[in-house]
Amino acid sequence: MDDALDLALNGYAFLPDRRRARGGGPVPLRLAGLRATALCGPDAVRFFYDEAHVRRSGALPEPLRGTLFGKDSVHSLDGAHHRRRKHLFVSLLTGDGVGDLVRHVTAAWDDAAAGWDGPTVLIDEAARVVTRGVCAWTGVPDGPGLARDLTSLVDGFATAGPRHWRARRARGRLERRFAALVERAREHPGGTTAVDTMAWHREADGRLLPPRVAAVELLNVIRPTVAICWFVAFAAHALTLRPELRPRLADEAFATAFTHEVRRFYPFAPFVGGRAVADLEFGGVAIPRGSMVLLDLWGQNHDATLWPEPFAFRPERFVGRPVGATELIPQGGGDPRTGHRCPGEQITVAVLTALVRRLAALDYDLPPQDLGISLRRIPARPADGVVVVPRRAGA
Ligand code: HEM
Repeated sequence: MDDALDLALNGYAFLPDRRRARGGGPVPLRLAGLRATALCGPDAVRFFYDEAHVRRSGALPEPLRGTLFGKDSVHSLDGAHHRRRKHLFVSLLTGDGVGDLVRHVTAAWDDAAAGWDGPTVLIDEAARVVTRGVCAWTGVPDGPGLARDLTSLVDGFATAGPRHWRARRARGRLERRFAALVERAREHPGGTTAVDTMAWHREADGRLLPPRVAAVELLNVIRPTVAICWFVAFAAHALTLRPELRPRLADEAFATAFTHEVRRFYPFAPFVGGRAVADLEFGGVAIPRGSMVLLDLWGQNHDATLWPEPFAFRPERFVGRPVGATELIPQGGGDPRTGHRCPGEQITVAVLTALVRRLAALDYDLPPQDLGISLRRIPARPADGVVVVPRRAGA
């Protein structure tokens, strides 16, 4: 029996349910005709991110490349080829640039929030705000429909329905638009924006990336940054669960702990996958060469052996606790410089912490709405996107 239907029906809970039913350990599966083994836990993270065990080339299903990541992206590279491309992302997305991005995004939020009047859908507004900020930061012109196209890429990767086709059309438009920017940047050497960096990046053989691939990678900076809007909506949801935390978010250290708990608690990326490099074994289960190996991100972030009371939202658990390489893994695990762990984690934490603090300082009412988050929908989101009605001073 193929397990793809069960995955489609049960979403994030699919792998943890299977693991529970087996009494723990690796879970053998068959997904879309392929043999797969799902792993979870810090030892599994170490195993999964070892290049002698798992490769990424040939592992990403076409529907994912056609929507979320793009073809020939860093996600699908291995070895020296991966490290060279990855260095490009790590150097762009860490260090001084992070503070500059936060300044652009918070300025866009302050500007937009001053005009919020009446019911405001937070996930959509946050998408527009972050799009404005990241466009200013990368040197990409913002424009009508850009935030919507970028969020469509994220919203449509794990469904066969209309959201998927919207994502494919958005990718076509965005790749054409970004490839044109890359070509223009190549006519004017010497620029220092992210567009210029992508335009002038050279592969190991000294050649520039084809404009379409440079566009794909530029999108792999901008698209996931805009996806932080999901976490902004989740943060607002968390404040409905723990409203007493609001004043404590003025404190940056506590706000950072809150951000980590939002990333742990709420469902976003369900799992990551690759292919077994050789005949392997993990936890007593044989993993044949070429079969899929999955790492259950959501399951691990809700594993009671790592997180006491995993289904309670408790930022306190991150106060004074460093975030290591193998436990909290909403954006993958291991070392982002050498492996496939997300290079945008610093950016995510910095931007989200800044926006969480602004959200906590915003005076608003929540009108009647559906705040439910279905674990069957990938990516999950509060059903109505969190509608807020800002209170005006003196109103
Ligand atoms: C990879 C999640 C934000 C850029 C990943 C992976 C996950 C992830 C699960 C895959 C890890 C793996 O394959 O092992 C997230 C989430 C984010 C986020 C939940 C919050 C919204 C960002 C940001 C950027 C970014 C802000 C860039 C500005 C990337 C890139 C990769 C990646 C380029 C590919 C890395 C590689 O294959 O070596 N992310 N990410 N992400 N992320 Fe993020």
